[in-house]
Amino acid sequence: MARDEPLLAPRTSSELSSLRNEDEEDALLTGQRMNRNEQSRGWVFWRQVGLFTWALVATVAVIIFAVIYQHQVIQKQGSKSTWGPSGKPTGKRNLIFMVSDGMGPTSLSLTRSFRQIELGLPPDDTLVLDRHHIGTSRTRSTSSLVTDSAAGATAFACGLKSYNGAISVLPDHSPCGTVLEAAKLAGYMTGLVVTTRITDATPACFAAHVNQRQYEDRIAEQELGEHPLGQVVDLILGGGRCHFLTNLTQGSCRADDRDLIQVAKEKGFHYVDDRDGFDALSLGVDSKLPLLGLFAEKDIPYEIDRQHVKDVYPSLEEMTRTALTTLSKATENSDKGFFIMIEGSRIDHAGHGNDPATQVHEVLAYDKAFAAVLEFLERDSTPAVLVGTSDHETGGLATARQLHKSYPEYKWLPGVLTKASHSSEYLAGRLREYLDGNGEKNNRVAQRDHIRKNLLEAGLGITDSTDDEVDSLVDLTDRASYILADMISRRAQVGWTTHGHSGGYSLVSISRRSISFIIFMRRVANWAFHLGVDVNIYASSTKDAWPLVGNHENTDIGSFIASYLDLDLQSITKKLLDSGLWSGPSSKVNASNTVDEFSWMGDPLGDDIRVDQLDSYHGDFRKRSNDNGFVSTQRRSCGCADH
Ligand SMILES: *[C@@H]1O[C@H](CO)[C@@H](O)[C@H](O)[C@H]1NC(C)=O
Ligand SMILES: *[C@@H]1O[C@H](CO)[C@@H](O)[C@H](O)[C@H]1NC(C)=O
Ligand SMILES: [Zn+2]
Repeated sequence: MARDEPLLAPRTSSELSSLRNEDEEDALLTGQRMNRNEQSRGWVFWRQVGLFTWALVATVAVIIFAVIYQHQVIQKQGSKSTWGPSGKPTGKRNLIFMVSDGMGPTSLSLTRSFRQIELGLPPDDTLVLDRHHIGTSRTRSTSSLVTDSAAGATAFACGLKSYNGAISVLPDHSPCGTVLEAAKLAGYMTGLVVTTRITDATPACFAAHVNQRQYEDRIAEQELGEHPLGQVVDLILGGGRCHFLTNLTQGSCRADDRDLIQVAKEKGFHYVDDRDGFDALSLGVDSKLPLLGLFAEKDIPYEIDRQHVKDVYPSLEEMTRTALTTLSKATENSDKGFFIMIEGSRIDHAGHGNDPATQVHEVLAYDKAFAAVLEFLERDSTPAVLVGTSDHETGGLATARQLHKSYPEYKWLPGVLTKASHSSEYLAGRLREYLDGNGEKNNRVAQRDHIRKNLLEAGLGITDSTDDEVDSLVDLTDRASYILADMISRRAQVGWTTHGHSGGYSLVSISRRSISFIIFMRRVANWAFHLGVDVNIYASSTKDAWPLVGNHENTDIGSFIASYLDLDLQSITKKLLDSGLWSGPSSKVNASNTVDEFSWMGDPLGDDIRVDQLDSYHGDFRKRSNDNGFVSTQRRSCGCADH
C-alpha cells in the first residue's frame, strides 16, 4: 500500500497515519480497495473534526456513567465497601482463605456431572464454586515444576517460593514470616480448619517453620505456641490427634513421651476430641478461645465414609460454620477482624488413591463449606473476602478413558459413581479384616462370593466383576485399595495419568511379577501423583479480590492476603531471623551448652533436599524398565504421609 504514496509526501503526521490505518481496516473488513487518492483534503479535515467531537462526547458520557454507577455500587454495598482497584482496604475486616488440596480443573467437571446425574439436575447446573471462579494459579516450586503441598502452602503463607517439603522455610533454610503470624501479631484472631492432620503440610505452613514436612511432632508443638513468636493460632479444628498424645498412650504417633494435650491445657486451650465435645460448641455459639479440636487420630474419614458415621465425626461444613461463628464472636468488640485458613484436605488423598467416587464427595463437601462461608459473609456485618484455591492437581484425572484398542467412544459414565457408598480405602480395610479373620482360607469360591456380595456390590455397586478382578483383590491385598479404585474408574471410564499400573489391564500379570514392583509403585506414587497443571482461583467476588483476577503465580495469593489485611511479612521474617538461638523443646544443644542456631526448625536433612535448581533427567525411564521396579535405597523410605 505504501507503494501508492510518494516517498517524500508531507502526509506523515500521526493523525493522517491513523486515518490511513482506518482506511486499511475498512478495506480489510469490506473487501473493497481503498480510494485514498480520491479523498480531498477537506474531507480529511471534517472527518477529523467529527471524530474529535465524537470522542469528546463519548468520553464525557463514559465518565458520567461511571460516576453514577460507582455511586450506586457504594450505596448498595453500604459500609461493606472497603477496597477498590484504586485503593487499599481500611477499617476492620476478615479474610477467609480456603484450600482445596489436590483439586484440579477436571475434579470440578467430574463432580458437576456426578451431581447432575445423582440429583437429576439440568445439564447447565453448576457447583457453587463454578459461580465464583475468578482466575488460575501457576504452581511450580523452586525444586520442581510439580509442587507438593508444603511448597504450595509456603507460597500462600509467605508469598514466596520454596522447595518441595518446606514448611515456611526458604531454600536457604531460613524461616519466612507467614500471613497468619503477621495477622496474629497485628491483632487479628486466627484459625485453622482441616479434614486431615492439623500437622500436615498445608495447615503447618501457616503456623510453623520446619525444614521437612515430616517433622509433624515439632509442628504440633509450634502450633500450640512453642514457637519463637508465641501462640499464633487461636482456633484449631481437624484431625491429627496422634501427634499430640504422649507415646505412653494408645493412639499416639509421637516419637517422644511429651503430652501436648496437657501442654495445650496449661496454655489455656479448650480441648475437645469427639463429636459430643464438638456438639457442645453449638456450632460456635458456645465455644471459647483458644480452642483445640482434634476429632481423629489421623485423618477425618473421607466424606463418602463419614456419611455413615456422622455421629462420630463433624463435617468440613460444620467445622467451618463453628469456626466462623467463634471467630466472629471473639472479634465482635475488636477493631481487628480475623484470618482463617480452611482446607478440603482429602480431595488430594482421593486423587492419590485414584478413587473418583470418593473424590466427588470430597469436592462436594468442600463446595458446601465454600457455600457456608458465602452465607456467613452475607450475614456478618464486617467487610470480608473469601479467596479459595488449590495447591496443585493430584492424579492427572481425565474424564474419559480409552479402554480398548478400537477408536474410543466419547463418553464417561458418572452414573457408575453414584452407586458407590464407600471409599476404596475403607473397603480395602474391610477386605483385610475379612482375610485376616476367618477369610474362608483356601476356599476361593467362598472368598469370591463374599467379596462380590459384601464389598463390590454393597460398597461400590459393581455387579459385573470378573474372577480375575476378584482374585487379584485376594492375591494382592496390599494393593486392594488401588485395585478397587481402578475397577470403579474403568467402569465409569475415568482415567488417571499417574496410576501405578498403566498400559492396559494388567493386574494379573503384575501379580505374576514381583511384589517389589508393587512396593515400588506405592513409593513412586507420592512423587508422581501431583501434576504441574494450573489450578483455579475462586473468590466471594471480583470486586474484593480484583488483584487475583486472571492467571497468577501461586505466591500472588500470599501477597494478596498480606495486602488485604495490611500485613508486614518482612517484619515477621526479621523477628524469626532474630530468633535463631531460640530454645524450643526440640532445639539441639551443642557441646558448649549453646542452642544450635535454628535447630528449632529441625535438621535440613542433608542432600536429600534439592533446592534452587529444577529436577533434571536422571535416566529414570530406563532405570524403571531395567530393574523391574526395584527402588533405589537413597529414595525416601516411606512416603506414606507425603501429599
Ligand atoms: C517414648 O519416648 C521416649 C522419649 O521421650 C523414648 O525414650 C521411648 O523409647 C519412647 N517409647 C516408645 C514406645 O516409643
Ligand atoms: C555452639 O553454638 C554456638 C552458636 O551457634 C556457637 O557459637 C558455638 O561455637 C558452638 N559451640 C560448639 C562447641 O560447637
Ligand atoms: Zn498430594
